Amino acid sequence: MDRVVEIEKFDAEEIIVENKLRPDAWSEYIGQQRIKKNLSVFIQASKKREEALDHVLFSGPPGLGKTTLALIIANEMNANIKVTAAPMIEKSGDLAAILTNLQEGDILFIDEIHRLTPAIEEILYSSMEDFRIDIIIGSGPAAQTVKIDLPKFTLIGATTRAGMLSNPLRDRFGMSFRMQFYDSQELSKIITQASIKLDKEIVYEASMEIAKRSRGTPRIALRLLRRVRDFADVADEFTIEHSRTKYALDELGINSHGFDEMDLKLLNLLVSANGKAMGLSTIAASLSEDEGTVEDVLEPYLLANGYLERTAKGRKATQNTYKILERPMPRETRGLF
Ligand SMILES: Nc1ncnc2c1ncn2[C@@H]1O[C@H](COP(=O)(O)OP(=O)(O)O)[C@@H](O)[C@H]1O
Ligand SMILES: [Mg+2]
Repeated sequence: MDRVVEIEKFDAEEIIVENKLRPDAWSEYIGQQRIKKNLSVFIQASKKREEALDHVLFSGPPGLGKTTLALIIANEMNANIKVTAAPMIEKSGDLAAILTNLQEGDILFIDEIHRLTPAIEEILYSSMEDFRIDIIIGSGPAAQTVKIDLPKFTLIGATTRAGMLSNPLRDRFGMSFRMQFYDSQELSKIITQASIKLDKEIVYEASMEIAKRSRGTPRIALRLLRRVRDFADVADEFTIEHSRTKYALDELGINSHGFDEMDLKLLNLLVSANGKAMGLSTIAASLSEDEGTVEDVLEPYLLANGYLERTAKGRKATQNTYKILERPMPRETRGLF
């Protein structure tokens, strides 16, 4: 995509493969029907009016397709997109430089937008509304404020924690969408589509096998597909078969509930509390993870699938969790679920 200007380059191999597999048209973007439907209407309307699209916010766990949506929007709008992430915008001057370099109708994509500092958030939300920024030139008593008009641009923000955005910033987004986890059928389609791009064929059962073990997340599904493909390549098989897939996933230690190692650690921890609720800080400390990762990355999938419950007192394992881990339910809580 020539029109994509990356302000900062990430160099991980994962990102390169990810970009290769990234759909750039609606037809290849599977699932998230409600978001797709709404966005297409808004895109059509703003094209008809020849206006920049309203600012858009995507929230949800990593790997569910937020960045992909931003790139598809740019494609559909025939707009240039500048891609950056909040941690790269350290000083107000960094943001001012980005904003003043935009052209009419450009899209600015800010990933991890909840990580902007309050001062930078403030510059951003005033520029979203008024398309103008105040820049302070010089320092001390000689400092002067200069107002600079900005072109009408569209901000697309992505975040794993919508709750951490300040209210004024959140209110400036005309559209806000929460990403959903994908079901196995959807993931199976994504896997099949991607394997064609990787010059491989995959049988339906194999794609479903990977789908079921992917935590409802396209990024994980695609990562597993690449690992399974390695096994098929080594065995000189053009088609990824079901038996090879099962073998590979077992070798990789991926269980059939789609839990990864961290999920299992968390669930075992909750079960060990014997029916009592456990606080977020205790959980984070026991797993040697920060609270943000537990809340944004680990918990959403377990919550959405009924393996974890949030109560006023903390987190609890559910009946499902005890069942799946084959552990007896604590006596005093039986019947309370
Ligand atoms: N709905 C979808 N259809 C097809 N592929 C998808 C979909 N959502 C995500 N992907 C793929 O999954 C990977 C991760 O998506 P990405 O947009 O980077 O997630 P996020 O920005 O939410 O972390 C990308 O390679 C992308 O191509
Ligand atoms: Mg992303």
